[in-house]
Amino acid sequence: MEIFAHRGASGSCPENTMAAFRKTAGLAITGVEFDVHLTADGEPVVIHDETVDRTTDGNGMVKDLTLSEIKKLDAGSWFSREFEGERIPTLMEVLALFEHTPHRLNIELKSDVFPYPGMREKVIAAVREFGLEQRVILSSFDHETIREAKREAPEIETGVLFMEILADGPGYAASIGGDALHSAIPYAVRESGQRAAAEGAVIRVFTVNSREHAEMVRRSGARAIFTDHPEEMAGLFGG
Ligand code: G3P
Ligand code: MG
Repeated sequence: MEIFAHRGASGSCPENTMAAFRKTAGLAITGVEFDVHLTADGEPVVIHDETVDRTTDGNGMVKDLTLSEIKKLDAGSWFSREFEGERIPTLMEVLALFEHTPHRLNIELKSDVFPYPGMREKVIAAVREFGLEQRVILSSFDHETIREAKREAPEIETGVLFMEILADGPGYAASIGGDALHSAIPYAVRESGQRAAAEGAVIRVFTVNSREHAEMVRRSGARAIFTDHPEEMAGLFGG
């Protein structure tokens, strides 16, 4: 089963930081997943939440802060003092780190709460600038974004993110230009998910952090898991 580090190696490092990505870059796993929002001055930055409150020493919405304001925040201390001084990375910094590694890069476009006009186009331009079209997967819970991304960049793989137990996942994905199904655990292990996998659908499952869940997902026929513990999961389920 393929292993993707969820928000980088987020079990042992602060999520979505260069520390978490450097650790991931040294692992023999398939790929890394990270989340992108847009700053007030239009820079794609790598952070999970709409606000900086949970994962930095600051507060406020990413969309209301400029890149220079964002770059002053400490994104490591909330996790452990060892990581004091970690910053919120830009998308460009993360792409540069992985430019010459073999990893696949799953960029999750977090446009499902705020639409972030222009973000999708900027992300696609950055992927093309680095020549990473064949290694990137663009995913989102915002399925309009998936449809538009596939229209604008048919050469880049798309992943449809969802929490529901879809009756016809592959049919739905195909209707919006989705190449893969990025599902929560319940869909993957249900009959509809298992049938889809058997018929050739690519299913990647989030977030799989226990051995028991990983075992269930592997039996389901899914292609990959997103996990906060990539090193441990690769040892148990990789390959
Ligand atoms: O892309 C898989 C997973 O990251 C989706 O959920 O909330 O962790 O971004 P979330
Ligand atoms: Mg994510």
